[in-house]
Amino acid sequence: MAVSPYHTPVLLNESLEYLVTDPSGVYVDATLGGGGHTEALLLRLSPAGRVVAFDQDDEAIAEAKKRLARFEGRIDLRRANFGDVAAELASIGSAKIAGILLDLGVSSHQLDDASRGFSFRGDERLDMRMDRRSGRSAYDVVNATDEQELARILWEYGEERRSRQIARSIVRQRPVETTTQLARIVESLTPGPTATKSLARVFQAIRIEVNQELEQLRRCLVDAPELLRPGGRLVVIAYHSLEDRIVKEFIRDAAADRIPSGSKYLPDEPRTPTLRPLTKKPVVAGPDEEKSNPRARSAKLRAAERL
Ligand SMILES: C[S@@+](CC[C@H](N)C(=O)[O-])C[C@H]1O[C@@H](n2cnc3c(N)ncnc32)[C@H](O)[C@@H]1O
Repeated sequence: MAVSPYHTPVLLNESLEYLVTDPSGVYVDATLGGGGHTEALLLRLSPAGRVVAFDQDDEAIAEAKKRLARFEGRIDLRRANFGDVAAELASIGSAKIAGILLDLGVSSHQLDDASRGFSFRGDERLDMRMDRRSGRSAYDVVNATDEQELARILWEYGEERRSRQIARSIVRQRPVETTTQLARIVESLTPGPTATKSLARVFQAIRIEVNQELEQLRRCLVDAPELLRPGGRLVVIAYHSLEDRIVKEFIRDAAADRIPSGSKYLPDEPRTPTLRPLTKKPVVAGPDEEKSNPRARSAKLRAAERL
């Protein structure tokens, strides 16, 4: 039987085209996953080029360690949250970096491994933590959040129209222990063909809350310009509109030479831009990649250069 790969990297060539400007520079892969992007990056760099790679999932680190063993000396694998990238790089005395790549969300391996409780297709205890050291799992979010807050999570992070109804039903049927139980509640409120979309939205919302994904993305983006040397590149691949909007607005604001005061009377404040956008519109996968890797269908890549 064919073994499915840990994760097939998305927009691999496109991301490296934007990322690499100096073959002997130091790069950060903020989302190591199966190590596909890091491996291709190391192959593209000269022997002097190095990668510091982050993942908060111990399994991803262990797996990538094996895959990347032949690059020993050129790679530093760190089990850490990319929200802490500035502190982590400071702790190893890293010089300014030539590029940082973020390939957001979960890996195919995390989704496919039912024991991690990410997928509505499995039947496992609700978990969804990328970092299993952290205390709060999907079980806690689903069973210990009040109804109003639960509805907000489903609405804001899942853009689920029936957020209130679903939250009410969850609260009535607690304790909700497994992915199947949660899926049944959602299915019972969403008729026929729309059920799968609602399931995806609800599971996405809870996953984002468990892992504080948007907050960690913002923290990393805010620190990125200071970590990059002039000419260094920021490349982000997002998989849903909430993440993509944050990336788009962050790059727009970092590129602005004025802060709009929003006042009719006060002038805009001048500021020094830190980034130059390199992608006017997001880069998306071509038809061949979309066909061979369904995950690529929702991918949007944006890139910017440190001024
Ligand atoms: C889409 S996968 C990356 C796949 C990778 N580019 C490859 O080619 O195999 C995202 C990975 O980032 C990790 N991750 C997501 N958010 C993170 C965060 N805030 N800090 C550290 N790692 C994170 C996940 O655990 C997952 O392994």
